[in-house]
Amino acid sequence: MADAELNVYEAAGGEPVFRRLVEVFYARVEADPVLRPMFPEDMEPGKHWQQLFLMQLFGGPSLYAQERGHPRLRMRHLPFPIDNDGRDRWLRCMLEAIDEVGIADPARSAMQDYFERASTFMVNTEPTASNVLQWGTPRDKSE
Ligand code: HEM
Repeated sequence: MADAELNVYEAAGGEPVFRRLVEVFYARVEADPVLRPMFPEDMEPGKHWQQLFLMQLFGGPSLYAQERGHPRLRMRHLPFPIDNDGRDRWLRCMLEAIDEVGIADPARSAMQDYFERASTFMVNTEPTASNVLQWGTPRDKSE
């Protein structure tokens, strides 16, 4: 993050903006032929957790922790095979949603930076530079 003092939640516009962001993001997920089948039929609970998680992450109230505990995001995603294509699609949906709801810099670039890194970390079908610790180095594997 460029500015350690920045409260992205406040700068982006607070709760109504995060609610709208998640609505728009989920509409894009729903329209994506690869992503949609990964999500359950009823996407409302997931939407709720996503909104609370993002508000908390970016400096808003800690409602996710109160309702759901520790995020353990990578672990929660292990049931879904996430490859680089899935990651790219998810990221595109989110970055387009940020622009559609009109979140401006500096919040925009702070959010983009987080989503680029975190979505790569969520890939769980193949080793990547950022999740290699989860997989072990080639030397670890041969031992
Ligand atoms: C920046 C990266 C990501 C973040 C911050 C993120 C965040 C979240 C959160 C907060 C939840 C709800 C967790 C809970 O149940 O408490 C969730 C669920 C889920 N995520 Fe992600 N996610 C990311 C990347 C991805 C990617 C790349 C995919 C697939 C390509 C994905 C697919 C899913 C699915 C299928 C669920 C379950 C939804 C449900 O149960 O309704 N996520 N994610």
